[in-house]
Amino acid sequence: MSSRKGILLAGGTGSRLYPVTQAVSKQLLPVYDKPMIYYPLTVLMLAGIREIAIITTPEDQVQFKRLLGDGSQLGLDFVYIVQEKPEGLAQAYLLAEDFLKGVPSAMVLGDNIFFGHGLPELLARAGSKIDGGTVFGYRVADPERYGVIGFDENGRALSIIEKPEKPPSNYAVTGLYFLDGTAAERARTVRPSGRGELEITGVLDTYLAEKSLDVELMGRGSAWLDTGTHSSLLDAGNFVRTLEERQGMMVGSPEEVAYLAGWISETELAQRAEMFGKGAYGNALRELLR
Ligand code: G1P
Repeated sequence: MSSRKGILLAGGTGSRLYPVTQAVSKQLLPVYDKPMIYYPLTVLMLAGIREIAIITTPEDQVQFKRLLGDGSQLGLDFVYIVQEKPEGLAQAYLLAEDFLKGVPSAMVLGDNIFFGHGLPELLARAGSKIDGGTVFGYRVADPERYGVIGFDENGRALSIIEKPEKPPSNYAVTGLYFLDGTAAERARTVRPSGRGELEITGVLDTYLAEKSLDVELMGRGSAWLDTGTHSSLLDAGNFVRTLEERQGMMVGSPEEVAYLAGWISETELAQRAEMFGKGAYGNALRELLR
């Protein structure tokens, strides 16, 4: 078992998707055939991470538990942590401090969807780095909505600026952060931003200052999908559907990843498939067993 622990941050009000998210957490909404949170969960799993803290709002925790349980059905170990108010990504490290106990971590945002050839290799590279951190840059048309990377003339990351009016580049920092065991300590030094949040960029800045932050660019052959608006959410669903129907393979199935990693047996996979019944997802799991 890799000693790196995972944080799946699934708090927030999802207010930009109201009324869809008035009664349901955004991260539980469907992205085609799976709840949104399956996709970032499988990213942590592909990084070899099996101990994961799931951070939710107080109200939504019960639903996440209903969906994901204690993780043992996937050969994983989940703990649940409440975030009372959405006070920033860096706050997640403070909330998870007792869980992390000073070991390296990978945090992924519950609404971030990654897909691409070479993703497991990229994750393995980031995972093998014990000191410092790794973040991933992805070229987007609308960088001002994200944390944006500024580069020096040699293409080395100099700065990360949260939602800049004048973006220094088109490279956004995605919602996946591999940080060493000092992340919580560093998060404690971050002060609330103008929007009242403990920004993750505040934590990343401390690594940048020490030149211990690697910025890996995800190439144009990979996808980092947005789920922040009604139409981008629908687009993400259509993207998954297109791939799955064309290839006859699943994107973002935790059962598949657990099975292929040898974390659950054939019998356990069969039981999961049985539990899901006659629907398409259950069928796809049965297909894996053939
Ligand atoms: C957060 C981070 C931002 C990052 C983005 C990725 O933004 O603050 O740096 O680029 O996630 O999804 P937020 O979703 O809080 O606006």
